[in-house]
Amino acid sequence: MRLLRIVALGLLSVAGMAAAAADESRPLAPAHLRAKLTCHDCHQKEKPTSAAVPDEGCMVCHGDYPAMKVQTKDVKPNPHGSPHEPIPCTECHRQHKAPVVKCLECHQGKYTFKVK
Ligand code: HEC
Ligand code: HEC
Ligand code: HEC
Ligand code: HEC
Repeated sequence: MRLLRIVALGLLSVAGMAAAAADESRPLAPAHLRAKLTCHDCHQKEKPTSAAVPDEGCMVCHGDYPAMKVQTKDVKPNPHGSPHEPIPCTECHRQHKAPVVKCLECHQGKYTFKVK
């Protein structure tokens, strides 16, 4: 009787783990995989949702816009220092899908970038 219950519980938890794994895997950029980022590092929540990751979720490690502007000061034009209002980090550096450079929506063909 007791043994049966233990086996049943074991099966339940295996099924539970498989479901959680399927739910919790999201592709990440190689640099973030190497750095072993956790979901919480960016989402800042125990349970990541589809809510957008706030800029602070990136700035914690990378620094703020002025810091990023300095880091890419040699890129012309500087994607982190355009004459426009700053764009949220994740509009370009999407994390679970390929990155895009928002600037090119308006300046298509004018600039080229190597975004990651
Ligand atoms: C827990 C710290 C941490 C957080 C949070 C974090 N990163 Fe990173 N990120 C790193 C490390 C470490 C690297 C690899 C070393 C480096 O390039 O600075 C990296 C690399 C990068 C790179 C360069 C990728 C490459 O292939 O060279 C980009 C772009 C980047 N992160 C953007 C972001 C954005 C956008 C966010 C927010 C969604 C974010 N990071 C959140 C730590 C972090
Ligand atoms: C308008 C699109 C855009 C936004 C918004 C943006 N970036 Fe970038 N980022 C780029 C591009 C393009 C590059 C690559 C520049 C190059 O080397 O050609 C880059 C490069 C980087 C790198 C790698 C720097 C290096 O030295 O190679 C990091 C880290 C990064 N961005 C973090 C951020 C963070 C953090 C934010 C928000 C504060 C942010 N980015 C906002 C477009 C963007
Ligand atoms: C490097 C930062 C970063 C890390 C680490 C990260 N996420 Fe995300 N996540 C984002 C960003 C940014 C978005 C917004 C859409 C996008 O850029 O792909 C997002 C979107 C999502 C979404 C909504 C869209 C979708 O794909 O369903 C879910 C759910 C999610 N993340 C779950 C996770 C889980 C689970 C983990 C840990 C395995 C994780 N994320 C790790 C940055 C991150
Ligand atoms: C919503 C459309 C739009 C977006 C998005 C946009 N721009 Fe612009 N940008 C303009 C317009 C319009 C002008 C003024 C007309 C012109 O000079 O082309 C301009 C002017 C500029 C200028 C000064 C004029 C020049 O050509 O030297 C630079 C530099 C620039 N943008 C860079 C950027 C960068 C970098 C990004 C991404 C961070 C960006 N823009 C995103 C529309 C946009």
